[in-house]
Amino acid sequence: MHVLITGGAGFIGSHLAARHLANGDQVYVVDNLSTGSLANIKPFRGHPAFRFTEADILQWSEMDEAVAWADRIYHMAAVVGVKKVLEDPVAVMATNMTGTEKVLRAIHHGGWNPQVIIASTSEVYGFNSKSSFAETDDIVLPSAGRLRWTYAITKLADEFLAFSYARKYGLNIVVVRLFNTIGPNQVGHYGMVVPSFVKQAVSNDPLTIYGEGTQTRSFCDVRDTVVALDYLAGCPEAWGEVVNVGNDQEISICDLAKLIVQRTHSTSPLHFISYADAYGEEFEDVTHRRPELNKLRALTGFAPEWTLNDTLDNLIENERAKNLRVA
Ligand SMILES: NC(=O)c1ccc[n+]([C@@H]2O[C@H](COP(=O)([O-])OP(=O)(O)OC[C@H]3O[C@@H](n4cnc5c(N)ncnc54)[C@H](O)[C@@H]3O)[C@@H](O)[C@H]2O)c1
Repeated sequence: MHVLITGGAGFIGSHLAARHLANGDQVYVVDNLSTGSLANIKPFRGHPAFRFTEADILQWSEMDEAVAWADRIYHMAAVVGVKKVLEDPVAVMATNMTGTEKVLRAIHHGGWNPQVIIASTSEVYGFNSKSSFAETDDIVLPSAGRLRWTYAITKLADEFLAFSYARKYGLNIVVVRLFNTIGPNQVGHYGMVVPSFVKQAVSNDPLTIYGEGTQTRSFCDVRDTVVALDYLAGCPEAWGEVVNVGNDQEISICDLAKLIVQRTHSTSPLHFISYADAYGEEFEDVTHRRPELNKLRALTGFAPEWTLNDTLDNLIENERAKNLRVA
């Protein structure tokens, strides 16, 4: 199979590349390396079935050829992370909406019908105060122009772009609402909590918790996430659908910090700072983000293999190894 991954030098994209190369597929990655990195794809450089182009999907001259070549496309390229979103909402709007439209348009013009995954996010559920979310639940977003929600709005627009193309042109598209994903290659600089905590705990530095730490999240190992995405892309019943992807085990951020300190045998204290100090007055967090996974299970039989403890132990080990290499 020919697999095109936009944003394939990023965290999730690089794991998709690894999975498909291991399956014997041809993999073509395009990435502008804004949050992704060459380090993520280093293991595949030189692999005869792997090709990488550094380009911005907004200006990529080879998009039409690449899309026409592909049997499957994972569209993962996006401006991601709370910090980036607050710093540059204009880039978020351009990449996340115009970029997706360009990919969909190229697929339509390609005259060929590849399997397509469009990456959306649990953030689209917005302010909905339910404790867990099914795909049919209401989207609750603020009416005034609060820029913290830019990312969610762009991803919601992507969902509707995808459904419009799927409906009008009969394209085989699955929209995946990804919940918090963790694992190797994820970096903390853009506001991702687990890599930040692991780094802080391994160095015995204070773990920085925003707010009171009572907000809960459900973390899925990326090596499980990519299995779910692979199954969904190849599942005709999923085409034209939106599907939650994640792990439904839930933990508060405060308990997560304590767990990481405990598993690292670290002396790190917990340090609480307000959201206003971290991200400015405009920021609002959501209290719960737990996926309901009935639809994913019914479509694919998917069950995650990684427990949170196993993923954390793996990340702690990786962080220690990285520190040893630097020392
Ligand atoms: N990681 C999560 O928990 C999570 C949760 C919900 C949704 N998602 C979605 O999954 C996708 C992948 O996220 P990730 O966590 O791997 O983040 P990431 O930042 O590691 O990956 C995004 C990749 O896209 C690339 N990129 C950004 N703009 C680009 C452009 N204009 N042209 C080409 N490449 C560009 C970046 O360099 C990066 O490699 C994103 O669409 C994101 O919105 C991720």
